[in-house]
Amino acid sequence: STDTLRFDNKVVIITGAGGGLGKTYALLFASRGAKVVVNDLGGSLAGSGTSNKAADLVVKEIEANGGIAAANYDNIVTNPDGILKTAIDNFGTVHILINNAGILKDSSFAKMSESAFSDVVAVHLEGSFKLTKLCWPYFRNQNYGRIINTASPAGLYGNFGQANYSAAKLGLVGLSETLAKEGFKYNIKCNAIAPIARSRMTENLLPPNILEKLSPNKISPLVAYLGHSSNEITGAIFEVAAGFFGQIRWERSGGVYFKPNDSFTPEAILNKFKDILIFDAGTTQHPKMLNDYNKIYETTSKFEKDNDQGKEKIDLKGKVV
Ligand code: NAI
Repeated sequence: STDTLRFDNKVVIITGAGGGLGKTYALLFASRGAKVVVNDLGGSLAGSGTSNKAADLVVKEIEANGGIAAANYDNIVTNPDGILKTAIDNFGTVHILINNAGILKDSSFAKMSESAFSDVVAVHLEGSFKLTKLCWPYFRNQNYGRIINTASPAGLYGNFGQANYSAAKLGLVGLSETLAKEGFKYNIKCNAIAPIARSRMTENLLPPNILEKLSPNKISPLVAYLGHSSNEITGAIFEVAAGFFGQIRWERSGGVYFKPNDSFTPEAILNKFKDILIFDAGTTQHPKMLNDYNKIYETTSKFEKDNDQGKEKIDLKGKVV
């Protein structure tokens, strides 16, 4: 075989793997030797109802292909322990966690009920938190873990009718960025994907000629790579759809520095607001952590020092008011 990226002796939990994107992940990991926990409560798009069928069918398909899998029907919100237990009882541990399960309860913000907000946050964000928290000690103890969280372009950019969903999805980005830092010394890598693919979530939203190009099989290769031991990247966000794979990052504008003696007033902001908004390739930064503020602290404290000494000599052209 030409498949060099294999998952023999690796255990992967995939939530919401009874259909859509999660199913393609389950089939791909299993075809490369992973032992797969196929979790799915088998509910509707809005999260109501349950059925064992979705997860069972995926497990049957994996087994028919000669792979190894175990079904789990627990709700990630109310019984995340049951999902981990399926991994431990069947395969002894967990190495890779793909937080993929999700629901939609779209409505305009004006009409959004509190429960539509909290239900969606519960499944996407809290469910991912809870299951990750349960897997974390295993990852730490074995000095190995791979976590892929499922964000969304709706979370990165916002989307009409999805205040609940976009809040939950950007929450997963923040969660991933922190877990990447806390997991670093334990060889736990945590990344987020923002996919677009054909599934029951999108089939009524997008036109057929677009849907045709959006096979979920065009998402799974990235997820498998991020789950592999050869992946060293952590804390990253990837946008992936229709055969496109790219990375998203934060960018801070070059900004404007006020000196200690300047007036720190709303009017001063008004006067400089256009400059604050300039993204100039030479001065923008791509912060990756809190102390990427070092440059800001350095520059502002330099102003303060010069000021203390009664000097007013700073002249960073265009960048200082
Ligand atoms: P899908 O509806 O086919 O898959 C989601 C699965 O999660 C379903 O099988 C559902 O039964 C399961 N699920 C829902 N709540 C659960 C719970 N509490 N416990 C266990 N399982 C649960 O939709 P799709 O498109 O495959 O979505 C997968 C993930 O990708 C979701 O997180 C979704 O938000 C995300 N996503 C999908 C996009 C797309 O274009 N399809 C775009 C951006 C993100």
